[in-house]
Amino acid sequence: MRVDWADLARRLAALCDGEDDAIALMATLACEIHHADERFDWTGFYRVVAPELLKIGPYQGGHGCLTIPFERGVCGKAAREGRTVIVDDVAAFPGHIACAASTRSEIVVPFRAGDGTLLGVLDIDSDRPAAFTREDAVALEKILEEAFANVSMT
Ligand code: SME
Repeated sequence: MRVDWADLARRLAALCDGEDDAIALMATLACEIHHADERFDWTGFYRVVAPELLKIGPYQGGHGCLTIPFERGVCGKAAREGRTVIVDDVAAFPGHIACAASTRSEIVVPFRAGDGTLLGVLDIDSDRPAAFTREDAVALEKILEEAFANVSMT
C-alpha cells in the first residue's frame, strides 16, 4: 500500500485540529503516518531537548536510539541545517546511526512551532533502497507545518 498524501493530510488535519500539545501530536502523527505506507519500517520523532541535542519522542517500529547530538547522523544533519534530508543509501551516508541493520534508506524532516522554533525532526526509515521522493518530502513538510502551528514554546 502506498500513501495517498492528500487523503492522509485531510485525516491528520481533522485528528489534530486545535491540538497544541506537542507529544499528543507526535504520537498521533507517528501512528497514522507509519501505517499509511508499506515503505515505512520505522516512523518517529526526535525532539530538541537542549541546544544541539535531540532526544527520542513518540515512534512506531523497533527501538530507536535515545539521544542524538546535532553533529551526528541523518537526524542531526536535518536539525543542524533546518532542512529535509533524503538518504537513498544509508550505507553511503557518513556517520549514519543504524538503529536497525535492515534500514536501507531514510527521510528526515525538521518541524517547527508556530513561532518558527525548531521542535525536532520526523525520521522515517525504510528497508528498501531509495524509498523516498521529493513528493514525500513536500507532503511531510506541509503536514508537519500544519500540525504544529498551534504549538508554542513560551
Ligand atoms: N538513522 C538515524 C537515527 C535514528 S534511528 O534510525 C531510529 C540517524 O542516522 O540520525
